[in-house]
Amino acid sequence: MDTSFGFYLPTRIEAGCGILKNSGALVKGVTGGKRVFLVTDRGVRAAGLAGEVGDSLSREGFDCLWFDQVEPNPKDRDCEAGGEAARQFKADVIVAVGGGSVLDSAKAIAVLQTHGGYIRDYEGRGRITREITPLVAIPTTAGTGSEVTRSAVITDTERKFKMTVKDVGMAPRLAIVDPDTTRLLPPATKASTGMDALVHAVEAFTCRPANPMSDVMALAAMGRIFPSLRAAVQGGDSGARYNMMIGSLLAGIAFSHADVAAVHCMAEALGGLYDTPHGVANSMFFPMVTAFNAQADPEKHARAAEACGLPVAGLSSAGAATMLVQELGKLAEDIGIPSFRSLDYVKEADFEKLAEASYVNGSTPSNCREITREDYLRLFRESFSG
Ligand SMILES: [Fe+2]
Repeated sequence: MDTSFGFYLPTRIEAGCGILKNSGALVKGVTGGKRVFLVTDRGVRAAGLAGEVGDSLSREGFDCLWFDQVEPNPKDRDCEAGGEAARQFKADVIVAVGGGSVLDSAKAIAVLQTHGGYIRDYEGRGRITREITPLVAIPTTAGTGSEVTRSAVITDTERKFKMTVKDVGMAPRLAIVDPDTTRLLPPATKASTGMDALVHAVEAFTCRPANPMSDVMALAAMGRIFPSLRAAVQGGDSGARYNMMIGSLLAGIAFSHADVAAVHCMAEALGGLYDTPHGVANSMFFPMVTAFNAQADPEKHARAAEACGLPVAGLSSAGAATMLVQELGKLAEDIGIPSFRSLDYVKEADFEKLAEASYVNGSTPSNCREITREDYLRLFRESFSG
């Protein structure tokens, strides 16, 4: 067993209900910049959240240029257009207001503004050669954790493949975490993003690079997310929203110091090919992959079940892990996540291609149980047949 690990969180976190209205002052506190490139999407703009941040920045004397050309499963071409626009504007700080797609796009834009070229030039780990434009991340969903991670997942539209760009220099300088931003989200978005956060926590905890620090964060994340997700999707109170947002933050810190694993490999393969929302894709494979993995490490899966608040007292590790698998399936159903089978655009003829894309994902070696192309193919088939 490799016992070595490091822990470095370069992101300052400011969290609290209602702090969005002070975002201008918070940004001012971490940057000497004056020209803000404000990355968002049309939905967040329409909800008024980006406007609130923009007003607060203006009150603090920042000049802002808005960029709202971000789609779900963010695309390489939009990031490249953003990088060019940020360069022309001479942005000296980038503020991202939105879900994971917006936050990841902002990271890619900051890289492209300072490094040029195409985002695929930076695919993989450690390809960033100098400091990027300072980033401030303001999440408006409780799911991605991107506000504290050092990676961006961007769709290569030519290869129809979700690539990861990862470098410690891509971590936001500041995360402004306001649980009230999720108040007006549609239930389906709360459901899928919340499941993404839960997958982050479970995969961070059970994957091979897990370490004592990431374990603490991952367990704390599960303890907030699992018992709160149903209530949060149904509208919920501020307590459920708070638990989801802080749970997502903790899960983000956990997986950025450990990794994700096979669920994400399959979800990213699916998202790259069909544009399936990330959280939905994760959720659909979560129970099947957890059942596969639990056989290799029933103890850790039993601890995950306990952290989720499941009544596992008196059960064996294998029994507790089985309960976790069943409860993950029930949770997805209760909050209205569609089944893999129900997606009418999925073709069984694509499963080989999906298995291959999953296998070559950089997180495959992190899965707690060795997983082959054939295993992935079987898991796609089993998830499809339910
Ligand atoms: Fe994710």
